[in-house]
Amino acid sequence: MADPSWGEHAYATLLLNDAYLPGALVLAHSLRDAGTSKKLAVLVTLDGVTADAIVQLKTVYDYVLPVPRIRNDKPANLYLMNRADLHSAFTKINLWKQTQFSRIVYIDADVVAYRAPDELFDLPHAFAASPDIGWPDIFNTGVMALTPNNGDYHAMVGLAERGISFDGADQGLLNTYFKNNFHRLPFTYNVTPSAHYQYLPAYRHFQSSINMVHFIGPDKPWKASRNASYGSSAYDEMVGRWWAVYDRHYREKEISQLANGSGNYNQAYESQKNASLADTKFDTPQGGNFQQTPRQIFPWEANQPKATRSFYGDEPELQPQGASRSGPTAAKSTGRSSVTKSPPKSPVSKASDNKSEAGTASWTTYSRGNAWDEVPGISKYADAVEKRHRSSSRGKEGEENDDEDDEQEEIQRPFKVTDFPTEAERPSLPVTPAPVPRGRDAAGKALPEAVGVPSQSEWVHYKCWVADVEFHVKDPTAQLEKLAQQQSAILLRKLGGDKGGVPGGASQDASTNSAESQTRIAQSTPVVLSPRPVKGTAAAATRSLERKMNEEEAGKS
Ligand code: GLC
Ligand code: MN
Repeated sequence: MADPSWGEHAYATLLLNDAYLPGALVLAHSLRDAGTSKKLAVLVTLDGVTADAIVQLKTVYDYVLPVPRIRNDKPANLYLMNRADLHSAFTKINLWKQTQFSRIVYIDADVVAYRAPDELFDLPHAFAASPDIGWPDIFNTGVMALTPNNGDYHAMVGLAERGISFDGADQGLLNTYFKNNFHRLPFTYNVTPSAHYQYLPAYRHFQSSINMVHFIGPDKPWKASRNASYGSSAYDEMVGRWWAVYDRHYREKEISQLANGSGNYNQAYESQKNASLADTKFDTPQGGNFQQTPRQIFPWEANQPKATRSFYGDEPELQPQGASRSGPTAAKSTGRSSVTKSPPKSPVSKASDNKSEAGTASWTTYSRGNAWDEVPGISKYADAVEKRHRSSSRGKEGEENDDEDDEQEEIQRPFKVTDFPTEAERPSLPVTPAPVPRGRDAAGKALPEAVGVPSQSEWVHYKCWVADVEFHVKDPTAQLEKLAQQQSAILLRKLGGDKGGVPGGASQDASTNSAESQTRIAQSTPVVLSPRPVKGTAAAATRSLERKMNEEEAGKS
């Protein structure tokens, strides 16, 4: 029977258990959002990936391909990197067995694509990968362009069976197998950020050329809450990109689940699930017969707090304290789980418990509030304001225990920026001063005339006629010029040591001014210019300045 996918190009990833499901979904969406028309394939191990997860995968992947798990029975080297969780990473070798595809671009499930690197399908090299940051002479196995073939596949299975891998996982094995026979791809195809070390100048310089970001190590974006992406470091920015894709596709579902309660589940999502299930080839324990209340898919659906908003007409309901506050503060809250009734365990958390591969601890502390409640800057500000109000309204007595109290309260009392202090708590607000009438002081007394400033009427400088009607046109520019010229004349006089009249021809306007107005300016203008030393006598310097000014004056007209 002819295989319709023969010779196709496909992006492929690998899912060993449900813990990486959010990663696999975000990866596929990021590639599709970037506009690729290549097929998307996910290799799954059916002993670790649940039927519900497969349903989810089928909403975005063209092919869900079951493969056998390949475990490393000699995992000692895994402990060298403290990653016992990678015991089945050899399963990646199954990629070379997918000979229905002429070319595969493999991408780890903990990668987010900034653009779809379709050009990697057309490389002439049988095998290509980017350098590893831990040891840049070798390649990182998170992104690889490869040509499936049984020769490579069987050779690598041979290595796997003997546990030949310097790190106990796929990267150690594949680098042992390919040695230097790989085409080195730019780092931009597999940028591996670290929360601990960042080469910020290089990141800023090459940022715009990043193709894909790979979250290596045990910390994954989906394990941290959305909060983590509000930081401003390079790492936080990249985590933010992951969350942006996630939110584009799943935030609305989360919100509608939260708002409606699980009984009134998003209908579109539900029908999408049923439709996908109908054509899935895997049997599910439920046989496609979904209940009203859907089973939980994502790890954070377990221990989900109830919606804290109540609407008009709703029965007032007591909320567990701290339930509306997410992030580290909620995590600190003790006794919450004794108040909140734990929902039944989801298949997801069961799977991760069994495999102990993904920290489920982070999910149990995952809660929600308003989007803005999660912005650390806002809540910090709000806390600070609230703290200030409380300590000032409490007065002096309680001050000794303040710190302790505040900490307790901060932990237990949910605070939203939408809470508004009572009138008693509110400090008096700053008041805009009443306008003072022009030319008068605050008491209404007339202010003395400014010394050296011409009166308003003097600013009427020239006349013009429109239809025989005479207008006085105010020309402040001309007035300013006039003032400047007067000042120059005074300066010249000082330079020349001439205590008497205005130097002839320095300015026509200045010469027409009254002696009085010149004195006013001289009084009001402190000498701020220190004239450059001029060779020769002061009188010669004055003459040369005069000449220059005359030339300039002539040039204007
Ligand atoms: C690197 C690779 C990853 C691999 C691991 C162990 O982190 O990115 O794909 O599983 O090494 O070899
Ligand atoms: Mn990875």
